[in-house]
Amino acid sequence: MILGASGLLGKYLVREWPFSEQVFGFNSRDVDIRDIEQVRGVVREHRPGWIILAAAYTDVDGCETNPQLAMDTNFHGAVNVATAAREVGSRLLFISSDYVFDGCKTLPYEIDNPINPQSVYGKSKAEGECGIRTILPDSCILRTSWLFGTGGKCFPDTILKLAKDHPQISVVNDQRGCPTYARDLARAIIQLREKNAEGTVHATNAGNCTWFEFASEIVRLSGLSSEVVPTTTDKFPRPAKRPRYSVLSAASLKIRGIAMPGWHNALRAYLDERLIEKHQVPQRL
Ligand SMILES: NC(=O)c1ccc[n+]([C@@H]2O[C@H](COP(=O)([O-])OP(=O)(O)OC[C@H]3O[C@@H](n4cnc5c(N)ncnc54)[C@H](OP(=O)(O)O)[C@@H]3O)[C@@H](O)[C@H]2O)c1
Repeated sequence: MILGASGLLGKYLVREWPFSEQVFGFNSRDVDIRDIEQVRGVVREHRPGWIILAAAYTDVDGCETNPQLAMDTNFHGAVNVATAAREVGSRLLFISSDYVFDGCKTLPYEIDNPINPQSVYGKSKAEGECGIRTILPDSCILRTSWLFGTGGKCFPDTILKLAKDHPQISVVNDQRGCPTYARDLARAIIQLREKNAEGTVHATNAGNCTWFEFASEIVRLSGLSSEVVPTTTDKFPRPAKRPRYSVLSAASLKIRGIAMPGWHNALRAYLDERLIEKHQVPQRL
């Protein structure tokens, strides 16, 4: 069962899941995870072997102005899903975020590094993790970062649109993290489920960069002529504080025998997929 099936990651999970298994995908209109009875209803009806909880309130700045919605969805919603999963014996994989860390490190974050979220979104995801671990100690908590893909709003899409219309674009060069192609993440999640993974896992594309470096590569690979100029976070004040450094270590994925492609290759694959979608060539015949 995939909760959040209409989202950036959820769409790939539904698309990539092996045909040999039955998949139920739900969006917020099918089931509102804030409502325990709705969650119980679908979980009892389908009794899934696994639940992938990709549903969340993901508007990081919106969470600052609407902390109640953030907590209701990302904490209470997660607890509701864990409660319903425990009642029928389903395994649970919860998607969490690099925003649970404060971004003060200069070396990749390991799974057991102390969390210290700096934003309402980060706090709500951290509370979600904690609530789930208490209810379902054998759950899998997967932290990821900087998701991109064709199924929704994402950084490369924004950069491509800006670069088409502007001769110069400024992008922050003092926040470093790991871009993650949601298709690659969906494939890693499927492998984790095949390995019956439990505990905390960090899963991103390999390598890391700043937003400026990421934007420069997006523009270069797309053959656009816009100039990408480095700038600093203080020039772009946002309601939610962003971690300065949120590189997640791949060690927890490696010990489970899973490797994700480097972000450069992932970006190339995303740009290809975007072109295919634009020209409406069917992807699965
Ligand atoms: N995007 C990133 O850069 C990023 C980075 C790190 C971690 N994550 C985590 O990765 C996961 C997937 O993110 P995403 O970018 O794919 O999210 P997304 O595109 O914003 O999609 C969110 C999904 O959650 C559903 N949803 C929202 N509120 C709900 C509710 N109350 N009840 C049931 N479903 C609800 C939405 O359904 P509707 O379409 O019906 O609204 C949608 O399917 C999330 O847990 C997020 O916190 C994301």
